Amino acid sequence: MSTATRTSKSPRELYSIAKHLGAWNPEEIPVVEDRAHWETLNEGQREQLTKVCALFYEGEVSVSDTLAWFLVAMPDADRRMFLSTQVFEEVKHAEFFEIYFREVCGKVDTAAYLVPEYRGVLVDDLRKRGETMGRAITSGDKKELDRSLTMFAAHYMGIIEGTMAVTGYDFFDDLLAKTGMFPRLHEGLRLIRADEGRHIVHGMDYLREMLAAHPEFAPPVREMFMQQAATIPVRTEFVFTPNAFDLDRERMLQIGYDHIEQRLREAGLN
Ligand SMILES: [Fe+2]
Ligand SMILES: [Fe+2]
Repeated sequence: MSTATRTSKSPRELYSIAKHLGAWNPEEIPVVEDRAHWETLNEGQREQLTKVCALFYEGEVSVSDTLAWFLVAMPDADRRMFLSTQVFEEVKHAEFFEIYFREVCGKVDTAAYLVPEYRGVLVDDLRKRGETMGRAITSGDKKELDRSLTMFAAHYMGIIEGTMAVTGYDFFDDLLAKTGMFPRLHEGLRLIRADEGRHIVHGMDYLREMLAAHPEFAPPVREMFMQQAATIPVRTEFVFTPNAFDLDRERMLQIGYDHIEQRLREAGLN
């Protein structure tokens, strides 16, 4: 159990909450009801919605696959308890999108939407960080293990969950506000978003704790955030090409930057 100053819920409290709130079942959401809305979309609208859902699906599969490294490497027992709920929840998030494609959008090659600016951060680079933790566990190098745990938390919870996913939820909020469509998609996203809130709280708490104990890790973490902030325009451009729902691209850009700043503050870096 950590002794650092904690401003949010403890891992054990988050674990306790997850046992109740994280137990929802994607199979029980009647997403097929959204199919009627899908049928009314033009080609560009289908393309934009498919693109965002595909990136979410691929991202959820990737984080499900890599989180086990973090759980195994984590020295703190309470955090491992919480992470066991997070692995389960990430798998269910991927399942929700899998069902949504099957019942609503139809068969889609989701991996085709993993253009380099998304594939790197969501899949390839995250896997490398997991493998680095794996090597640190087997080498017995405590300093390297701490460093790799810290970098993984910054990448996974700070960037993927804490910046990219949360910006994506706002995209869907705008879509709903504009069209009034896809209530079942929003029902699933509301549940996913609540789970992700716990993941981010836990991850940023851990990151802050590690950076307080190891100030020498702060420069590479800050550099990671700066590099990722610099890619926000090209990622936004991809999602808004085409912008068939005519959503506010500039607002989305700003939300991305705001999340970067908020995560840096939570990590104690701003
Ligand atoms: Fe997730
Ligand atoms: Fe998550």
